[in-house]
Amino acid sequence: MIRRFDGDRPLFLLDTEHTSYAFRVLPTGHLEQLHYGPKLEAISAEELLSLTEKRTFQPGAVIGYDARHPTTVLEDMCLEFSAGGKGDVREPFLELVHHDGGRTSDFLFAGAEITDTKPPYATLPGSYDESGRVEHLTVRLRDAQYGEELELHYYVYPDCDVICRSAKLINLSRQSLEVDRLLSLQLDLPDSPWAVTCFHGAWVREMEKATLTLPAGRFVMESRMGCSSSRMNPFFMLHDPEATEDSGACYGFNLIYSGNHYETVEVGAFGKTRILSGVHPQGFRFLLQPGDSFEAPEAVMTYSAEGFGGQSRNMHRFVREHIVRGQWKHKPRPVLLNSWEASYFNFTERSLLSLAKSGKELGIELFVMDDGWFGERSDDTRSLGDWDVNLKKLPGGLAGLGKKLKELGLDFGVWVEPEMVNVRSKLFEAHPDWTMAIPGKPHSEGRTQRLLDLANPEVQDFIIEKMTEVFSSADISYVKWDFNRIFSDVYSPALPPEKQGETAHRYVLGLYRVMDELTRRFPHILFEGCASGGNRFDLGILAYFPQIWASDNTDAVSRVRIQEGYSYGYPLSTLGAHISACPNHQTLRSTPWDTRFNVAAFGVLGCELDLRDLSAEERKKLKSEIALYKNWREVFQYGDFYRGRSGNLHEWTSVSPDRRMAVGLLLQELTRANTQFERYFPKGLDGEKRYHFSNEEQRLNLKRFGSLVNTVVPFHVKQDSPVHNAIARAVTMPGETEDIKATGRTLMAGVKLKQAFSGTGYNEEVRYFVDFSSRLYFMLAEEE
Ligand code: DGJ
Repeated sequence: MIRRFDGDRPLFLLDTEHTSYAFRVLPTGHLEQLHYGPKLEAISAEELLSLTEKRTFQPGAVIGYDARHPTTVLEDMCLEFSAGGKGDVREPFLELVHHDGGRTSDFLFAGAEITDTKPPYATLPGSYDESGRVEHLTVRLRDAQYGEELELHYYVYPDCDVICRSAKLINLSRQSLEVDRLLSLQLDLPDSPWAVTCFHGAWVREMEKATLTLPAGRFVMESRMGCSSSRMNPFFMLHDPEATEDSGACYGFNLIYSGNHYETVEVGAFGKTRILSGVHPQGFRFLLQPGDSFEAPEAVMTYSAEGFGGQSRNMHRFVREHIVRGQWKHKPRPVLLNSWEASYFNFTERSLLSLAKSGKELGIELFVMDDGWFGERSDDTRSLGDWDVNLKKLPGGLAGLGKKLKELGLDFGVWVEPEMVNVRSKLFEAHPDWTMAIPGKPHSEGRTQRLLDLANPEVQDFIIEKMTEVFSSADISYVKWDFNRIFSDVYSPALPPEKQGETAHRYVLGLYRVMDELTRRFPHILFEGCASGGNRFDLGILAYFPQIWASDNTDAVSRVRIQEGYSYGYPLSTLGAHISACPNHQTLRSTPWDTRFNVAAFGVLGCELDLRDLSAEERKKLKSEIALYKNWREVFQYGDFYRGRSGNLHEWTSVSPDRRMAVGLLLQELTRANTQFERYFPKGLDGEKRYHFSNEEQRLNLKRFGSLVNTVVPFHVKQDSPVHNAIARAVTMPGETEDIKATGRTLMAGVKLKQAFSGTGYNEEVRYFVDFSSRLYFMLAEEE
């Protein structure tokens, strides 16, 4: 609920179910931030005045706003936004160069409106509401000297304790204006130090978590790669240095944007902490003619007193309900088989169909043909841009393959990378000026491909029409949309020299126009974003594509960390996760089959390996795992997610919204000898309900015990000998099963699991838990 109190000057209070956000108009017309955190339950302006800054003297070596307000020292105030130049020497929210070259702006309160709708943005994706509960506050400010208008927007989502912020600048002056930065969010907290947790990485190493406590100075998180990037995700947290998964103050921030982004946490000279987030100002310059306006993307913020976990669940609910949209929003996502790690570029219609058939037998629902089906694409050096089917590989075209897949009972999905072009392509030959490159200058390459200039509307139209042709040429129900290089030599041949500072942002706007149009034209298609894995995993993409391929790294042990990283800000329904071959293609690590399934199950499950190469035992296992996943799919994809321990052990629980079903993961990275007893701590269960706690029965290949086989057979068995293999085929070892009935309260106190193998003996009561082992635990409430 948004309330405005009008005493001497307006004061605004924005409430969600558990949080409050408050600010007021100062006598000068600036906006003082009063509070963001636990709910205040305030009912009057007087009550909130205890939160205002009181000062009757100006301290030394600072600037007072003006002669009438000498004690308004903007540098030492919590502000809704800061333009700089009037004494606030901390990093600004806004930087303008006015027509006279002046860089000082002074926006003062001019009015405000509250409505109960969320209008869509003109140029950018944003949050949206179907619950009828969103409220929208617009605060208008006018520059005292130059007359430009600044709008600050606040969207309040009470159900998930989220407030979104954004800003719009309108050039109401009579001269042109240069915008050097317009960020989306500024939050000034009155104290320090706070801890910052960011999620950084690189290709196949996305979402590594790093935390530091900031006593002074500035910490920057950013992407200058043109996309939101795996180097630093736009999602981050600010929290009490002592916060845990379940307790302590924790703020979460994200940006609904897919390009260069910039987030800073700064502790100023007076110990206040400023958080900023928005489009990266470096390399950015937008020119506004009189009457023009510029919209900054929406930033998302949440607060929870229940630590990282509470923060995450707020964000998850928000992303599921107010970012992801369309027919697939709440639909169970299909179990897919992707051809990439099974065949790379080397396939024919025949080989694909035989792969697909082997998948169908195991329960696969959707077959995805990855890169390599068009032009002369037999490696990654050519043909991007030539989206005509390679008839040597697929004589019946996409339609022919789609039809045969349908006959097998499978849906058909296709890979595209529409934003790119290879120099070795017909498209490049025909339109060399359609790529992002500085005319006449050498260009730096990434994966031997270039970016098409999406800042150019002609290029956007080409992509829309060409993709429309591809998507309607066959019965296609899924599209994987890839993006495999980052920006360099940033330049749009379609823009004049003075507008080149707009190129990177206009690219992103062009991309949104293309995605918007194609998702409108093909509402039934499930789109999965991808950018060499997670190089563009952000809320801007999720506003169009309900899921994203989280990483090109399919190794389960890497993935448990990567997916755990994403889980701080993104729900499981957005994470594409696949079972792949062993040794793994990115790490050459060997992990147990169960663990590969168990980790991939916490997300949108797929397979990405040659299923025809599996042993009969593996096929049987995979078949029953896919069936199990389908039974529990709603919980895996849409459950409330809880993290437990993280480190050598990873402990997760996903709980259905009615808390009748829960599934947990316990994964161990490395074994420590003779640690027999372990507990699994579920979370989020209903304390009163009685659950049946169990795991899947295991059958272990005897070879997992190596030469210990000699302790149980009367003759000597040489490892890997024909005799050893024959015994292993005939005999499997039973694994431990857990079978407990208890209330949620008892289970959450820590389930004592059966004894782990510790070198002295093995029977069906012993937990085989070696390096990279894991278990899924299922909790099903008894009927009431
Ligand atoms: C990068 C993706 O992340 C992979 O999954 C695969 O689609 C390749 N591109 C294809 O070139």
